[in-house]
Amino acid sequence: MTVTETNPAATDENRPIGFGRLQRKEDPRFVRGKGRYLDDIALPGMLHGAILRSPVAHATIVSIDTTEALAHPKVLAVITGKDLEGLNLAWAPTLSYDVQAVLATDKVRFQGQEVAFVVAEDRYAARDALELIDVDYDVLEPVVDVRKALDADAPIIRDDKEGQTNNHIFDWEAGDSAATDAVFDSAEVVISEEVIYPRVHPAPMETCGAIADYDPIDGKLTLYETTQAPHAHRTVFALVAGLPEHKIRVISPDIGGGFGNKVGIYPGYILAVVGSIVTGKPVKWVEDRSENLMSTSFARDYIMKADVAATRDGRILAVRTHVIADHGAFNASANPTKYPAGFFHIFTGSYDLEAAYCKVTGVYTNKAPGGVAYACSFRVTEAVYLIERMVDIVAAKLELDPAQIRLKNFIRPEQFPYANKTGWEYDSGEYEKTFRLALSRAGYEELRREQAEKRANGELMGIGISFFTETVGAGPRRHMDILGLGMADGAEVRIHPTGKAVVRLSVQTQGQGHETTFAQIVAEEIGIPPEDIEVVHGDTDNTPFGLGTYGSRSTPVSGGAVALATRKVREKAKHIAAAMLEVRPEDLEWEKGRWFVAGDPTQGKTMAEIAMGAHGTVELPEGIDGNLDAEVTYNPPNLTFPYGAYICVVDVDPGTGYVKVRRFIAVDDCGTRINPMIIEGQVHGGLTDGVGMALMEFIGFDESGNCLGGSFMDYLIPTAMEVPDWETDFTVTPSPHHPIGAKGIGESATVGSPPAVVNAVVDALAPFGVTHLDMPCTPDRVWAAMQGRATPP
Ligand code: CDP
Repeated sequence: MTVTETNPAATDENRPIGFGRLQRKEDPRFVRGKGRYLDDIALPGMLHGAILRSPVAHATIVSIDTTEALAHPKVLAVITGKDLEGLNLAWAPTLSYDVQAVLATDKVRFQGQEVAFVVAEDRYAARDALELIDVDYDVLEPVVDVRKALDADAPIIRDDKEGQTNNHIFDWEAGDSAATDAVFDSAEVVISEEVIYPRVHPAPMETCGAIADYDPIDGKLTLYETTQAPHAHRTVFALVAGLPEHKIRVISPDIGGGFGNKVGIYPGYILAVVGSIVTGKPVKWVEDRSENLMSTSFARDYIMKADVAATRDGRILAVRTHVIADHGAFNASANPTKYPAGFFHIFTGSYDLEAAYCKVTGVYTNKAPGGVAYACSFRVTEAVYLIERMVDIVAAKLELDPAQIRLKNFIRPEQFPYANKTGWEYDSGEYEKTFRLALSRAGYEELRREQAEKRANGELMGIGISFFTETVGAGPRRHMDILGLGMADGAEVRIHPTGKAVVRLSVQTQGQGHETTFAQIVAEEIGIPPEDIEVVHGDTDNTPFGLGTYGSRSTPVSGGAVALATRKVREKAKHIAAAMLEVRPEDLEWEKGRWFVAGDPTQGKTMAEIAMGAHGTVELPEGIDGNLDAEVTYNPPNLTFPYGAYICVVDVDPGTGYVKVRRFIAVDDCGTRINPMIIEGQVHGGLTDGVGMALMEFIGFDESGNCLGGSFMDYLIPTAMEVPDWETDFTVTPSPHHPIGAKGIGESATVGSPPAVVNAVVDALAPFGVTHLDMPCTPDRVWAAMQGRATPP
């Protein structure tokens, strides 16, 4: 696969920071097989746990007989929901103020739900013993179709909850309903569509797991976990298990991909802890692929009905939408608490509207719980998909070019900071500039000419555009929290006496290259080379508190913390240098890596000299400690709003309906760029995700609630065969409020690419009168659309 990235317009302002395209510091250990993932860890005397899962979606548990399993010679414990009830641990709080069964006591509510936990000497014995547990289920009618979940005669799934008389979870609104209706009442054109974003799964390469090591002597629990948020997990464990927080150490080793899947607290993590407490030995639990796909957090599952009000010449005036959100059997969605529908209310996209309103209704169904930000910032992906699909539908109905309609409606540069109609303030953007760069990189006019020629020959070529605005970097903490924990993050920078540095982060990389880019931020600020800077993360005993890595928040939040902590170090270094040079601090000037006397550059001290001075014998000024360390907790003043323009070219086989992505042009703007190579990697990964969701990824259920996407034979993910050579480019519009002007990038491409691909497929099918097709655009669905038939399930 070849990759191109050029930016002929690149100026000094676009300069990446801290040595730019630096090779990743973590890669030497990964490419040599020296990464240390959870399953690489083996503690002395460690036991192994396995979970018995429900084979059905909805059933009453009549009885559980564990006698035979307990008699297995290698089994040390078999734990059921009844056992947990005795410890008050049968239910655990979710991240959305609901509760979830750790092990089912009364009923099972989705296929794959946790029913019993076996602890044995080895993994094989634990799995074998699962077969020896006899569970008698009384099968109940399941709720599978989310549209019927609120019917009066629908079975009630959460009868464990007092006062729950139906499957309703929440109704949540944003925007001004009356003002929006008023615009619709007088609009020249109103266009409506139902757009579905199906249930998909983050499917990280490494599945989830934990090793719990409880020491009964000092009462300390060491918990190795595949977690994106070690500190938040520690706090939740303290609350759930009643253990004091300082007696819990969460270690998150190398993580083989998170994508949101490792934010939640799964029953398996809690069961490993219980297993360790019960047996007095370390217990490892690692799920297999099917367990991961069937029981851990899914993403999306939104049915979105939308109306757009527009003028006949394509000016979009207002958008209104009602969403039914399928949250599965427990509301375990990982969202900031005040936004039960995440950041869906950025569904107004990149356009300057007169009014907007949305309502999201969350419901329970007999499906796995979760609802995570799979490589997106809390439901932004759904929002972007909706608006970008709708804009294309409006363009098609009004017979306008999809590029022209976007140009007509963009928020203009002089409108930033821009207050959108649902309460967000977009920080910065030059949308038209970025969009025109994408059009020119794609050769848009030429592509349209080629398409016209091909259409004349009966060939199906499609060109799809999407322009997205993301909202990433949650907090600020005054209105963003998870379970009451404000979304701020800490960073600590410590310069050793010899001038080498260590940076401790509350965020946790899952492959994004934090060991490199966070060192680059320090390097930029104080001139120590990145190779002399060690980045430490993923250990609550050795890092400052913070909410972790998801929703592309590491750079916007922790990146800010690191920059500010390093600036504190630089300022402190100035006072120490002044003492060493016997001058006043105000007489010093900074150049990268050293303070020197203004007017006499020969009189100066490098950071290494100052670090030694700080720990040495120089008389330090009043109020300056004998170290060169600083710590900051950064509470961002706003989110950052990265954006991008994507153009996808597809060819559809008229004989089979197979979609081939021929070209994909992605122009991203994430403000100040730290490491262009890492950014490209993030974009390539995200684009691949997007092609997967648009064309093949999808977790379906049959009418009994059986999961149809429980293995990689059924849940298809894209490989190098299905993706083109990515053509990437960029513009740089720094965030005005971020300490280094950086916005997040991790998830932009996953957010922005699905609508580009689907828009391209629908564009290819225009000769058949098709104006909408739901994801994934599998050959059978495309074929059915070409025949004018309903979409197959
Ligand atoms: O939170 P997460 O790390 O997933 O997302 P991110 O903050 O968008 O960062 C993803 C990777 O891209 C990190 O290594 C960042 O430091 C890097 N990045 C960058 O080099 N420049 C930016 N403007 C944003 C991110």
